Amino acid sequence: MDKSLILFVGFSCFLLINGVEGKNYGYLTETDNTRFQSFQDLVQEEQPYRTAYHFQPPKNWLNGPMYYKGVYHLFYQHNPHSALFGDGMVWAHSASYDLINWFSLDHALTPSEPFDAISCWSGSATILPRDKPVILYTGVDANRNQVQNLATPKNPSDPLLIEWVKYSGNPLMTPPNGVDGDNFRDPATAWQGSDGTWKVVIGSYSNNQGMAILYQSEDFVNWTMHRDPLYSTSKTDMWECPDFFPVSINSTNGVDTSVANPSVKHVMKASIYPRDYYIMGTYDTELEKFLPDTDLTGTSSDLRIDYGKFYASEDILRHSEDAIQKGWSGLQVIPRQIWLGRTGKQLVQWPVEELNILRDNQVNVNGKQLESGSVFEVSGITASQADIEIMFELPELEEAEFMDTNLVDPQLICDKQDSSVTGKYGPFGLLALATKDLTERTAIFFRVFRGDKGYVVLMCSEQKRSSLRNNIDKTTYGAFVDIDPRQEMVSLRTLIDHSIIENFGGKGRTSITARVYPKLAINDEAHLFAFNNGTLSVTISSLHGWSMNKARVNSGGSLENTESG
Ligand SMILES: *[C@@H]1O[C@H](CO)[C@@H](O)[C@H](O)[C@H]1NC(C)=O
Ligand SMILES: *[C@@H]1O[C@H](CO)[C@@H](O)[C@H](O)[C@H]1NC(C)=O
Ligand SMILES: *[C@@H]1O[C@H](CO)[C@@H](O)[C@H](O)[C@H]1NC(C)=O
Repeated sequence: MDKSLILFVGFSCFLLINGVEGKNYGYLTETDNTRFQSFQDLVQEEQPYRTAYHFQPPKNWLNGPMYYKGVYHLFYQHNPHSALFGDGMVWAHSASYDLINWFSLDHALTPSEPFDAISCWSGSATILPRDKPVILYTGVDANRNQVQNLATPKNPSDPLLIEWVKYSGNPLMTPPNGVDGDNFRDPATAWQGSDGTWKVVIGSYSNNQGMAILYQSEDFVNWTMHRDPLYSTSKTDMWECPDFFPVSINSTNGVDTSVANPSVKHVMKASIYPRDYYIMGTYDTELEKFLPDTDLTGTSSDLRIDYGKFYASEDILRHSEDAIQKGWSGLQVIPRQIWLGRTGKQLVQWPVEELNILRDNQVNVNGKQLESGSVFEVSGITASQADIEIMFELPELEEAEFMDTNLVDPQLICDKQDSSVTGKYGPFGLLALATKDLTERTAIFFRVFRGDKGYVVLMCSEQKRSSLRNNIDKTTYGAFVDIDPRQEMVSLRTLIDHSIIENFGGKGRTSITARVYPKLAINDEAHLFAFNNGTLSVTISSLHGWSMNKARVNSGGSLENTESG
């Protein structure tokens, strides 16, 4: 994968690895942990919601990945002293050779010094020239101020990077004038200007503006704040986990984080509670400014990496006593490759091809017509642990109903016009983690409308009937998919893993991830169906489905354990 930009998407911050021809740049950020409690210990193997092939740290949420000497590293926040979020957060550490199977290692960073006396929070890795990995992280110091610190590996020749040494000159950055001590966190991966100067952004809020504060350094140790933020906006609250990176305009390969020329566009991402947003734009290296194509507003008009359950919202936590929630806050989606879409306006994401090694037991369906009101079971695969790719043909597009979609929030349409509301083209799609009688089902479906300027494709993930359980989040998600159904088929890839359903519409243009906790549709009782509840019939042009094998995830404290277990 070393020529791809790889994205790790968590429920809060998202995380990138940017690898370019063997020279790999780690990229990792992490969450605002302050508002999240941790859950209880690792759930038991027999629990129905334990995922089989998604990375799942024993506790808590993820901090970020890095690729170094053939090993992927993932760091995540952990509180060894308590089942609840609190002081004493550490950086726990897992590693993988293939992005799919993971084993756990000793903690990388734990509070020990005045500059991180209370907690080791959020951070990022950068690989400096001559293959030197470094971590920048936020320490909560003895006065509860957020400061930025540096750590380096004790033994850089060890690909597992087990021990980390904190720089004696920490902290490197303290809250500048005008910035509160608790509004200064989450250093992103650094990049280098053409003159060799290092640059890094820190999330902040100052003067009623959310922002990415820019720091510069010649030696990665002595950092000076740039006069102006790289980007700021009065439309949002505090920025957490800012990310800033280039994507190639004409290739799906990843590019070095330091590239700034006409062959790239830049992405600015921010987590603004309770969601992650991003905008595209241009990096003006003379002005040291990010010039966005559109402003970041923290509303549904911004782009999102994922339109589902992403930020570790309080909703998940509210029911933390419920047994089904135990130990799940750090669940991670499958790493995704990302690149710039052909329109240049948005990112496209796709699960890394390494995932395909877990595929087993393929089933295929071709040219199957779904009449109005029909439901068709996809049998022959393990429906609780599957990977599905499906393409729909819509033979009478001009019959689609009209909708003025300019001013509507897609999530609201999905909620109001759920899978039981008949349209013309749509709802059609999949019913995942469903009982045989459909009492429980998670509907992932499309509706196609005629709009002012061509066709509009809406994608929904409806959790209303996902579980007979009460007191769990059943929010419906929705987003538009930027495809023209006259030119390309409406397609969906869905990864089902017991309690997580990841959906990629339009070959990765729109992604929606849902957490669901069915009561009955678990393990062998789970079924998968394709359905069409529109009045017009649709055809499954092709469906490929696979049962997914189990990945080895933190099965032991060492590589040896992993390989034997
Ligand atoms: C730190 O960098 C600034 C700006 O480049 C420079 O003016 C200052 O002398 C440096 N300080 C040290 C201690 O190197
Ligand atoms: C990508 O675009 C840049 C700038 O337009 C150009 O220099 C480069 O050759 C292009 N690369 C490919 C692979 O087309
Ligand atoms: C299809 O629509 C009918 C009528 O509204 C409804 O009873 C049924 O549950 C719907 N099917 C699905 C899969 O949502």
